[in-house]
Amino acid sequence: MSKNFDVVVIGGGPGGYIAAIRAAQLGFNTACIDEWKNEKGGPAPGGTCTNVGCIPSKALLQSSEHYEHANHGFAEHGIEVKGLGLNLEKMLGRKNTVVKQNNDGILYLFKKNKVSFFHGRGSFVKGDANGYEIKVAGAAEETIIAKHVIVATGSNARALPGAEFDEKLILSNTGALAISEVPKKLGVIGAGVIGLEMGSVWRRLGAEVTVLEALPTFLGAVDEQIAKEAQKLLTKQGLAVNLGVKIGTIKAGKNSVSVEYTDAKGEAHTGEFDKLIVSIGRTPNTIGLNAEGVGLKLDERGFIAVDGDCKTNLPNVWAVGDVVRGPMLAHKAEEEGVAVAERIAGQHGHVNFNTIPWVIYTSPEIAWVGKTEQQLKADGVQYKAGTFPFLANGRARALGDTSGMVKFLADAKTDEILGVHIVGPMASELISEAVVAMEFRASSEDIARICHAHPSLSEATKEAALAVDKRALNF
Ligand code: FAD
Ligand code: NAI
Repeated sequence: MSKNFDVVVIGGGPGGYIAAIRAAQLGFNTACIDEWKNEKGGPAPGGTCTNVGCIPSKALLQSSEHYEHANHGFAEHGIEVKGLGLNLEKMLGRKNTVVKQNNDGILYLFKKNKVSFFHGRGSFVKGDANGYEIKVAGAAEETIIAKHVIVATGSNARALPGAEFDEKLILSNTGALAISEVPKKLGVIGAGVIGLEMGSVWRRLGAEVTVLEALPTFLGAVDEQIAKEAQKLLTKQGLAVNLGVKIGTIKAGKNSVSVEYTDAKGEAHTGEFDKLIVSIGRTPNTIGLNAEGVGLKLDERGFIAVDGDCKTNLPNVWAVGDVVRGPMLAHKAEEEGVAVAERIAGQHGHVNFNTIPWVIYTSPEIAWVGKTEQQLKADGVQYKAGTFPFLANGRARALGDTSGMVKFLADAKTDEILGVHIVGPMASELISEAVVAMEFRASSEDIARICHAHPSLSEATKEAALAVDKRALNF
């Protein structure tokens, strides 16, 4: 195997493995180094996303949603379920199988695209514009030479001071995806994306879930109207979200964790939980890279400092994904990975930060792209809004899921779509139409004039676009 490469990617998550595949497609002799180990010590490429993030969380969200439907939802359809049981071991086993299928899929894609894979930790030894020496410390130690380096080393869960993750009682995302017995009482610190998704999984499976959030508003980054609706729906399901709390001492006992906190009124409480998930954001991972050894610059928050094109301060060294500024999302990492490979090839890599969709996979799902109403107000932009409730959508009624709405925000003068916000069934899929429309700088009138299949949830999107001009047909 050649030890000299045109492109070496450090990190095999969605940012890294996709960058490696694209670089290989473009004709570069490419290597990808990833250190993630499966339970047998073998390679498990795919990063946080595949191993302890997007994929396993969605597998458990799906399984727990089936369970909840069988428990509460089927009766309405005239389906009577008797003797319903939960085999958590099997559910977790299925999740692990889904993860492994994705790991194996990436190894297959590396082979197919002739990407050389190195299992181990990659770190800079030395280098300059003429090439970089990268040490791979795995089962064996070796050194490879790279003309271009793409760093895609991802992020790690942030712990609360004094409450380090033990993954038994105090859990990061890793432990939260592998609880072997449904906890009676589950505490969650942080009502962000992970808190709401993992809180939903364990609530559906029978846990009493208490979410403790520092901010006084629920999902502050989400459009206010959508966030309020989501809060109402999630609270109705039994997810107890406490806003404006201040976390005090956290003590892990033998079998439980106690959390001292004050509520929004300043009253003191102690929560006793069988397990505690701490999901208060993530920190960039540059551990073991030897960034300082080669003078690779980090910013004041520990991210690798990059420009708009993902270029670092070192010649021919690039960085993408969670380890650089911007939203910590798998698809953002992938887009940056592709763009960097294309820039190395002298092409014009393209990432439009204005049209990166967000999805929270609760039930109903919450999805959005572009500006929120509160952002437009703050920016002094004149806008028109149109909303359409799923209650008035035939397909949603047939599904038996009429919660939520689609909301369009369009420029008051030009009618260009500025933001689309959805809380409702299959919002994760519906949002793609809005992303495409915004990428092409469409107007709400464009969507309103497009024929949408009937009956489909996407008709709610068309109707919300019609509602911008106050001419929704079914509401
Ligand atoms: P990572 O996926 O973190 O991959 C980095 C890889 O680099 C890892 O395999 C790591 O072991 C390896 N590595 C690090 N340092 C070295 C080194 N020195 N040498 C070799 N290898 C190294 N995003 C979404 O878009 N949708 C979702 O539904 C979603 N769900 C999530 C659910 C959870 C519970 C979590 C925690 C995250 C979720 N995310 C989701 C976020 C998503 O996982 C990240 O944005 C994404 O994984 C970032 O990709 P990345 O390639 O930058 O880094
Ligand atoms: P987050 O940033 O989404 O939410 C963290 C929450 O914790 C915030 O609401 C914050 O106000 C709160 N918080 C911070 N410090 C606190 C404290 N001391 N006490 C109480 N609350 C506190 O981060 P999260 O949920 O950890 O997820 C990390 C990232 O992973 C997300 O931002 C997202 O980028 C990614 N992710 C994406 C998913 C998706 O796309 N569906 C799913 C899960 C994660």
